[in-house]
Amino acid sequence: MAEAETNKLEVYIDESQISKRVKEIAEEINRDYAGKSPIFIGVLNGAFVFLSDLIREINIDCEIDFLKLSSYGDSQISSGDITLLKELNCEIKGQDVIIVEDIIDSGLSIKYMKSIIEKNNPNSLKIVTLLYKEETVKLDFEIDYIGFKIENKFVVGYGLDYAQKYRNLKNIYML
Ligand code: IMP
Ligand code: MG
Repeated sequence: MAEAETNKLEVYIDESQISKRVKEIAEEINRDYAGKSPIFIGVLNGAFVFLSDLIREINIDCEIDFLKLSSYGDSQISSGDITLLKELNCEIKGQDVIIVEDIIDSGLSIKYMKSIIEKNNPNSLKIVTLLYKEETVKLDFEIDYIGFKIENKFVVGYGLDYAQKYRNLKNIYML
């Protein structure tokens, strides 16, 4: 990324904070799933960076698959209109599933994904998200692992985009 590009952005969470927190979450998951073999389901596109760092700190047997949803388009505000762009390619029935999200804002996307996965009768289902916008989330269930609770600000970098840009940045920035 050209320097001029990132100069316009303000670092919100830097790469060392992210890396420390990712390791802590992985340690929790390693403990909680000792002796099990969970399936991590990453939510495309945003969660691919977080999932790839997280997974390399996981020391138990595991599988990986991806779901892809679309709801935002190029807007900063969720349309609430969710469509499934990529379905799962793995068998969920009887498995321990962990959904991996980059960020939970309104909670609509995660609610939708949870319902899709529950229909397939997993043995268990937990959710991990790197970022969680406390003020905007409206959910009637708990998120099991949260990296950082953040303010209601639009953030980019570390997989998160604005109009498909900035996913490659190592830090998380405020737009
Ligand atoms: P929700 O359905 O409102 O919870 O939105 C979840 C999805 O919206 C996330 O998986 C992101 O892809 C996207 N999103 C929400 N807030 C942000 C943000 O601040 N930056 C980048 N993407 C965001
Ligand atoms: Mg997403």
